Amino acid sequence: MLDYRNPFIVSSPVPLERFIGRKRDVKAILDRLAGPAPDSTAVSGEVRIGKTSLLHYISSPKTAEKWELSPEKCTCIFVDSQTIAPFSPMGFWHYVLKSLAARKVHDTGYISSLLKEDDVGGFELGELFDRIAGDGKLVVLLLDEFEHIVEHVNSDDPQFLYRLRALINRPAHGLALVLASRKPLTELCQNMRFVGSPFYASFALLSLGPFSWEEANKLIDVYTQGTGVVFSDRDKEFAYEISKGHPHWLQKVCFRLFQRHVEKMKVRSESE
Ligand SMILES: Nc1ncnc2c1ncn2[C@@H]1O[C@H](COP(=O)(O)OP(=O)(O)OP(=O)(O)O)[C@@H](O)[C@H]1O
Ligand SMILES: [Mg+2]
Repeated sequence: MLDYRNPFIVSSPVPLERFIGRKRDVKAILDRLAGPAPDSTAVSGEVRIGKTSLLHYISSPKTAEKWELSPEKCTCIFVDSQTIAPFSPMGFWHYVLKSLAARKVHDTGYISSLLKEDDVGGFELGELFDRIAGDGKLVVLLLDEFEHIVEHVNSDDPQFLYRLRALINRPAHGLALVLASRKPLTELCQNMRFVGSPFYASFALLSLGPFSWEEANKLIDVYTQGTGVVFSDRDKEFAYEISKGHPHWLQKVCFRLFQRHVEKMKVRSESE
């Protein structure tokens, strides 16, 4: 039976099995996390370029396992920064602590005791991530929409960023970060007054661009497989030309092309 449901995804981040391309970016991020001293990355890219899809893909145990970051060793916690609204450092750390407790990353009794405190300070957090590292584990926080956090940080005294940076730079390395924002982290932080080394200096910067021609072709082939609809070379060239390889626009153009193909097929079958 042919499946004429449109396979192209035009609004939400793509699920794991529909994630196409980005091999170099995935490798760059996971190579850094899997190293002897896990390194953090700040991803940037224009609207709808695929930042959230990439963070979801990275945070899947199936992906991380290939880098020997098994779920027993590495816990990825995806946080859409807009979830913590209104943003406050304490709201943020409580969210993280609750996520760690829910995943049983460390002694839940210890985490619960921290949750009871109104103010979880730098000492307690440092201690917690050192203990996690001591268990042979790593926590990776994937913070999407990071601009939402930066917006709420005092630019004359960015204490929240100091604390984050201090935690990823601890010698035990129990915590690493993957940030995503539309603007590059350097630009986001340009009006911040840092005393000492700037926050962004602790990150590898990665800019997401459009899909290559090969990636776009792969997307079309994978998505149309088993649907009974075949995109011609001309269709593929048209879709790439219009979208310029931008994943969202590529999916949108292909969605329309797919609809047109199905309509034509229906008309043909009715006239037979
Ligand atoms: N790796 C991918 N494989 C297939 N499609 C993708 C991929 N990445 C992005 N897309 C397409 O682009 C759209 C936007 O992706 P996503 O929501 O991840 O982008 P974003 O950069 O997080 O957007 P925003 O700037 O709004 O937060 C998805 O709905 C999907 O159509
Ligand atoms: Mg997004």
